[in-house]
Amino acid sequence: MSNSNITADDLDAERPVTYGTEAFLSADYAKDEKELLWPRVWQQAGRLEDIPNIGDYFTYDICDDSIIIIRTSDDTIKAFYNVCAHRGRTLIDVPANSNGVRGNARSFTCAFHGWTYDMEGRNKYVHDEDDWGGAINPDCTSLTPVRVDTWAGYIYVDQREEEAETLAEFLGDAGRVLSHYEIDKMRYKWRQWCIYPANWKTSIEAFMEPYHTTATHHQLTAYAEFYAYSKQYGLHSVSGFDQRKSAEATTEGGGVSRAGKGADPRVSTYELARENYTTINYAASTDTLINAASRLKDELPEGTTVGEVMAHWMKSAKADDAARGVKWPEIPPEIMTEAGLAWTIFPNTNILQGVTFVLGYRARPFGNDPDKCIFEAYALERYPEGEEPKTEWVHADPMTERDKWGLVLSQDFDNMQWVHKGMKSRGFKGALPNPHQEQKIINAHRNLAEFMGRGAPKLLR
Ligand code: FES
Ligand SMILES: [Fe+2]
Repeated sequence: MSNSNITADDLDAERPVTYGTEAFLSADYAKDEKELLWPRVWQQAGRLEDIPNIGDYFTYDICDDSIIIIRTSDDTIKAFYNVCAHRGRTLIDVPANSNGVRGNARSFTCAFHGWTYDMEGRNKYVHDEDDWGGAINPDCTSLTPVRVDTWAGYIYVDQREEEAETLAEFLGDAGRVLSHYEIDKMRYKWRQWCIYPANWKTSIEAFMEPYHTTATHHQLTAYAEFYAYSKQYGLHSVSGFDQRKSAEATTEGGGVSRAGKGADPRVSTYELARENYTTINYAASTDTLINAASRLKDELPEGTTVGEVMAHWMKSAKADDAARGVKWPEIPPEIMTEAGLAWTIFPNTNILQGVTFVLGYRARPFGNDPDKCIFEAYALERYPEGEEPKTEWVHADPMTERDKWGLVLSQDFDNMQWVHKGMKSRGFKGALPNPHQEQKIINAHRNLAEFMGRGAPKLLR
């Protein structure tokens, strides 16, 4: 059987494909990811706001590696492996029930024999160094550096030792389009994590397509239709709301801010926005946007068109934000169109963006277990300077602490583990992803196959 992969052209032509379950279920595949995938991509490790001061650091754990990311000057971030050069003790302990640790330090001393490193990872102290008779030097006694760069307020790391592509090259069009949203000026509103009982791909894929909305989040269909296109951008991909070929145009606006269904767009715009916001745990919109939407009925005459309602909503929300010191970026209309609703940045992060907010997701392997992952969701928002909330990663159990996740994410959690279990069935013959609405997922498997050398999606005919 041919191992050849499908092409970007196959995706653009929306050719139906299928792919197997090995990538989700196989312990061998998970083991190979540790060599073939993770150390060969730029990985989203965290956000700059976590290390504002010199000496601030956090740890980012991926597979068997832990990486220390530290601010060493006002404009320099360094990263190195969290492992002592002497006999390999983890330098900073990261408990299994944490989502990394944070701190501030000018140096790191290993608890085992006291070898000490400065902020740059250089060895500063070897106990009884004379015993080596001059055979060791900073080349072998310093911490091993990791490539690090930043984009949109995110810190990315790259474990490749040889010179590889830059972060900007890796992000490509996704970086180009999303840079207009000035996500670097947003701050965490909330952030939660859990160990979820499904593979990291099963988990992140649950947030890649709105195709599931009608069945999974059925309550939302009272307010809007959730038909979406999706489109590959090389490694990455985007989705956005769309009209069914058969449907009459009932909504306008695109992206996340749209009118909703109902006879009076002044009312339906507000109802859709409020329902989304309150049930997605106060993410994917802002108080400003919801308040402005609530006034549409008072501020606009009956019979105002959908287009005029949308324009007025955005204009008044922008003015409300400006009055409290929150400046919206000017995003060209063609970029807004291209940006759609939400992006998947390969391999394991999603960004659902608005002009003043982001709803983000990240999923990583948990240990060597293909049946578990570290799952995170967070909201970013644009705040007046000095009013940014102080947040930490909060652990919230996906099954027993549903109130912390809100209705919509809980509904997603109610699927993911059963998708993962269902894929193990002898009766499951491989996925049949929707070529129009679930192209982001197909693209993820096309790209995974390039890295892994197996698991390529196959054309259905
Ligand atoms: S292992 Fe770190 S000082 Fe010995
Ligand atoms: Fe969902």
